[in-house]
Amino acid sequence: MAGMAALRIQQLRAVIQPTSFASRIVGCPRANTPNFVQTARSMSSAPTYEHIMVEKRGEGGNVGLIVLNRPSALNALCDPLMKEVKQALLDLEADSCVGAIVLTGSEKAFAAGADIKDMQNKQFVECYNGNFLNDWNVLSIVKKPVIAAVNGYALGGGCEMAMMCDIILAGDKAKFGQPEIVLGTIPGAGGTQRLTKAIGKSRSMQMCLTGDMITAQQASSWGLVSSVHPPDQVVDEAIKLGQKISQHSKLIVAMCKESVNNAYELSLSEGLHFEKRLFHCTFSTNDRSEGMTAFIEKRKPNFTDS
Ligand code: CAA
Repeated sequence: MAGMAALRIQQLRAVIQPTSFASRIVGCPRANTPNFVQTARSMSSAPTYEHIMVEKRGEGGNVGLIVLNRPSALNALCDPLMKEVKQALLDLEADSCVGAIVLTGSEKAFAAGADIKDMQNKQFVECYNGNFLNDWNVLSIVKKPVIAAVNGYALGGGCEMAMMCDIILAGDKAKFGQPEIVLGTIPGAGGTQRLTKAIGKSRSMQMCLTGDMITAQQASSWGLVSSVHPPDQVVDEAIKLGQKISQHSKLIVAMCKESVNNAYELSLSEGLHFEKRLFHCTFSTNDRSEGMTAFIEKRKPNFTDS
């Protein structure tokens, strides 16, 4: 287990720029330190972002918060913004203090989709050769749980981005939609696939073929989002959820997330087999031993993510 973790960290280091702030954060502060990352950034040569803001919230900065911040275009997902999201995710993934990540936008828009102005003159060969949108996948491959806190519009790529996250919380004015059909194209970052798995064929067809938006309440009753909150409370609720997850072993949380995600990829018997094997693997970890021992000794577990 320790060997696998070391290999994973090596792989991450290879893709993270040497200037990454995460590699310079030493230890995990225990006090509640909002803005810790921003403070760390301002005191170092860490990369500064133009289209997003990154903070650490929660006890000891155990929840990473990424805020999409391109208000002039309702957080339309241009390439530079997505590169920043990718960098921030990899930084937070490599930060041993962080146990969960929250992704949000503004009260008006989580994200109004891929940037239509950037796409207007794109041609097939450029899209195909450049594997357009493929980079967005990073959201669905980070090991730490990612919670989308959605207010306002989550349209096209914005809805797809929310669906790449592990949990979606919505503000009660949020609107979800896949309006690509209106633009003469189709969803290209998972809309036809993840939406169908989340809400079923008939509803997904209706949304993708009409381009109509659904409300937060509909999204909730259709199973797309976990819960609906007043708009000014969604981010706090997501951070609370992230904090709760962060109290558990990061190693076991990652294994659990992997197993749930495999429900989308595997047949039931393959999925059950995979789950059973990962369950068996937990018995090779210190945290499984600590968790059960702590229960029996009637104390809180002291997980070491090992
Ligand atoms: N791309 C680029 N710019 C966008 C944008 C987008 N997806 N969405 C909004 N904007 C810009 C607008 O052009 C406008 O900029 P200007 O002031 O410079 O004209 C600004 O954001 C504000 O937008 P509106 O004036 O349109 O705001 P509104 O409140 O009247 O309407 C809206 C809001 C209903 C979300 C409307 O902006 C809209 O329909 N946006 C497009 C939504 C869309 O079609 N998304 C899918 C994109 S394709 C895609 O995502 C493909 C994929 O699968 C990845």
